[in-house]
Amino acid sequence: MTTPAKEIRTFEWSEIAAHKTRDDLWMVIDGKVYDTTKFLDEHPGGEEVMIEVGGQDASEAFEEIGHSDDARALLESLYIGDLSVAAKAGKAAAKVVDGAQATADAVKQKAGGSGFGLFPLVPLVAVVAFAVYKYLEKQQV
Ligand code: HEM
Repeated sequence: MTTPAKEIRTFEWSEIAAHKTRDDLWMVIDGKVYDTTKFLDEHPGGEEVMIEVGGQDASEAFEEIGHSDDARALLESLYIGDLSVAAKAGKAAAKVVDGAQATADAVKQKAGGSGFGLFPLVPLVAVVAFAVYKYLEKQQV
């Protein structure tokens, strides 16, 4: 018999998005979900910036500040679970679509405004999104 792995809670965006007030504030940083409610008072950067990204992905905001290792260590005590595999895949797929859009725009510009838009890239995006989903699913086991 094998010992079951420690159960990690996973959350969908719909649930995370519901926690966005001063009294109940969650955020996602690098695919991990944090309950920052109790830390709000202590945040050296103030409450407002935290509330602005409440219930959302705060990865970019967190990285842009160049938070210290101490700040990163603090995250551990606020950790409540992971973003669900589907939500992670959705985000990765959105990035691919963004990239595809940028490529399509560039191609269109080069072709003097007569591009095909995103149409030829749709199957590619679907394949990449599926691959990302499978990859993340595997990683979580
Ligand atoms: C749970 C997540 C967060 C933790 C644990 C955290 C922790 C900290 C800590 C410990 C500092 C002091 C400087 C350092 O050690 O790096 C700090 C500063 C700061 N944080 Fe955060 N932070 C978080 C999220 C955020 C977010 C999402 C933003 C922006 C949207 C933000 C904006 C700032 C700013 C602007 C400062 C600089 C304050 C100053 O130097 O005057 N923080 N944070």
